[in-house]
Amino acid sequence: MEVTKRVFLTELNQPSLEFMARWRPDPEVDRWMETHVESLSLDQQQAWWEKTRLDPCKHYYAIYERGADEFPYLSVGRMLGWAQVLLTPPSQAEVGLVIADPDSRGQGYGTLALDGLTEKAKAMQATRIVADILPSNIASMRLFANAGFRPSEYLPDHCERGAVIRWTLAIT
Ligand SMILES: CC(C)(COP(=O)(O)OP(=O)(O)OC[C@H]1O[C@@H](n2cnc3c(N)ncnc32)[C@H](O)[C@@H]1OP(=O)(O)O)[C@@H](O)C(=O)NCCC(=O)NCCS
Repeated sequence: MEVTKRVFLTELNQPSLEFMARWRPDPEVDRWMETHVESLSLDQQQAWWEKTRLDPCKHYYAIYERGADEFPYLSVGRMLGWAQVLLTPPSQAEVGLVIADPDSRGQGYGTLALDGLTEKAKAMQATRIVADILPSNIASMRLFANAGFRPSEYLPDHCERGAVIRWTLAIT
């Protein structure tokens, strides 16, 4: 388990799969994703994870808030969302993240989680990190721009929802 200030990135486990199954179809999450998901059962979520976890290029994480007690580095607070680093050879990492509950957004959690993802991508020897973002997703574009990413490509008809803008961070 890795600690990044107020936020932990951990391996996915049963409670986090339940969290993802509950939140992924939520309209306030779904609208920012490349594909529409109407509903998702826990069985479907578990089946996805059983398959995905076998792929060494796909790394998924639960985003947790750090606990607030006197040993904050040892205690886990509430789950906030999930994130991924997908290695697309030769040395590119595609990252993405979700802070699920809209009430938890705008408080810096996304920024801290992206820091953690960038560190993980570096540890995986990636030399370039990319994120594909829907052009309407102002919050996400601000998040990535603040972290040093820059728009590098416009990809029309990239996904079910149409075009995305690819944001890139070169790692020196
Ligand atoms: C995008 C997301 C991960 C950002 O996480 P967050 O915890 O809300 O972001 P932070 O609080 O760290 O803020 C990062 C930047 O986003 C901005 N931001 C956050 N919510 C915003 C909103 N609703 N509208 C506009 N900007 C917003 C913040 O103001 C900040 O930019 P600034 O410092 O220039 O003002 C989160 O909003 C989210 O999960 N959204 C839904 C899923 C999604 O879009 N995922 C990304 C797919 S590419």
